[in-house]
Amino acid sequence: MRIIDQAEMRRQQQYSEQVSNCLTAFRAETGFSRRFWTQTFGCQLNENDGEKIAGQLTEMGYLPAEEIREADIIVLNTCSVREHADDRLFGHLGHMKKLKKDKPDLLIIVCGCMMKQPEHVTRIEQHYRYVDIVFGPQDIHRLPELLYHRLTEEKKQYLVGDEDTLAEGLPVRRVRHYRALCSIMFGCNNFCTYCIVPYTRGRERSRTPQNILDELRQLKESGYREVMLLGQNVNSYGRDRQADQDGDFSRIQDFADLLEHAADIGFYRVRFMTSHPKDISTKLLQVIARHSNIERHLHLPLQSGSNRVLRLMNRQYTRGQYLVIVRQARQLIPDLAVTTDLIVGFPGETEEDFADTLDLMRQVRFTNAFTFLYSKRSGTPAADMPDQVEGQVMHRRFNELVDLQNEHALQSNQQWLGQVVDVLVEGASRKEEQIFSGRTSQNHLVNFTIEPAKLPGRFLRADGLIDGAALEGSIARIRISESKTFSLGGALEGWQA
Ligand code: SAH
Ligand code: SF4
Ligand code: F3S
Repeated sequence: MRIIDQAEMRRQQQYSEQVSNCLTAFRAETGFSRRFWTQTFGCQLNENDGEKIAGQLTEMGYLPAEEIREADIIVLNTCSVREHADDRLFGHLGHMKKLKKDKPDLLIIVCGCMMKQPEHVTRIEQHYRYVDIVFGPQDIHRLPELLYHRLTEEKKQYLVGDEDTLAEGLPVRRVRHYRALCSIMFGCNNFCTYCIVPYTRGRERSRTPQNILDELRQLKESGYREVMLLGQNVNSYGRDRQADQDGDFSRIQDFADLLEHAADIGFYRVRFMTSHPKDISTKLLQVIARHSNIERHLHLPLQSGSNRVLRLMNRQYTRGQYLVIVRQARQLIPDLAVTTDLIVGFPGETEEDFADTLDLMRQVRFTNAFTFLYSKRSGTPAADMPDQVEGQVMHRRFNELVDLQNEHALQSNQQWLGQVVDVLVEGASRKEEQIFSGRTSQNHLVNFTIEPAKLPGRFLRADGLIDGAALEGSIARIRISESKTFSLGGALEGWQA
């Protein structure tokens, strides 16, 4: 791992100022400001990276574009976790060609996980020659330098270095003003045999507790209600830096400690993901149980219910161990919602293996599950495994699994009928219909209606309708009167600004 030192950050800062000067000169000459548009694919860690890219562009003096056509810089922050994600990038890039034709000085930047795979970079070099800048997730802090060179040298800038870096202090332009994402670590050491992430994101690097907690305190001060701590496997947080004596590692040794400190800062709610079952500790569950502002939700990817497949996947737990964790978690935290990720059609998965997955699902009863068709990722061990499952079989199993999960989700949601829950309001769910939405501590989506009389006048627009955007980030008390497979429905009972 290379911690990006202050000298390097200052160097980038100088590039940033030089780009800023270019923009000022352009504005003086033309009267126009340059604008950017970013689009991020994939997980929340990537979303947080996208926010850092937008943060840097803003610091350099670019303004956000209202729509893509208005942009002078387009950033596509890619994901490579499944084949579908790759396809989407090339679809988007196809459309860019016309935009670039209409506006020759438009800059196109492609970054994110796909750019750590040489075959994609080569494809871009050969077939999408209008892409100006390419870099991987480990090089986000070098955006000012790349941009400066591209603007002043008329030369494409492709950077696909293979160092695992850790950069602190990048500016962040957050997507929301009430919920903040906070990446606490980067990379992954687990090498699940189907997964590309360890290759695109490199080895695990934990930020220091000091840096994380400083960021969280600032977020609290600027009014954030909710924070989400992110890592590919938050439960191994700190393990890579146990020998470090600085940065508070001697006081805060693992994720349970960090989560407890985060909760003590006083956010309305602290969320976290993802937890790998092999690294869950009783200590972590106890911390959650002790702090009512930590979400009552554990996302615990199972992937498969078959011990044989779990072994082939290199997941390092058995179905028995998984069940023990879920039972213990529910015992310690009675109102806990357990959600998961499942993969159907891993190479060699037999009908019996698949039946084991359905059986385990019946035993656990997940509140919600993200279900995926296995997608072959070249370079991963599973891509070369024998007995790749045929498409038709895979789809049949997938449908069966989704049907069962939907049954469980509906039953789980029915338990909430008649209850009163608190949600963090995310705004209007459908613009003109006056239906609003928010999420509970269990991460349930709740759609609700409001009698205007129950709100102070400042939340009403001139036409008497409620301004959904003004409600974002408030806490609403909702009586649940409807339960569907993917959401709950109800009406506002009480409200807190
Ligand atoms: N680090 C997280 C998940 C990262 S990817 C964890 O281990 O839980 C999110 C999910 O995508 C995974 O949990 C897995 O279910 C799915 N996934 C990853 N690689 C996949 C592949 N090659 N095909 C299908 N699904 C995949
Ligand atoms: Fe991929 Fe496994 Fe790492 Fe998750 S834990 S990112 S599934 S290798
Ligand atoms: Fe995708 Fe990279 Fe995240 S592959 S899921 S964006 S870590």
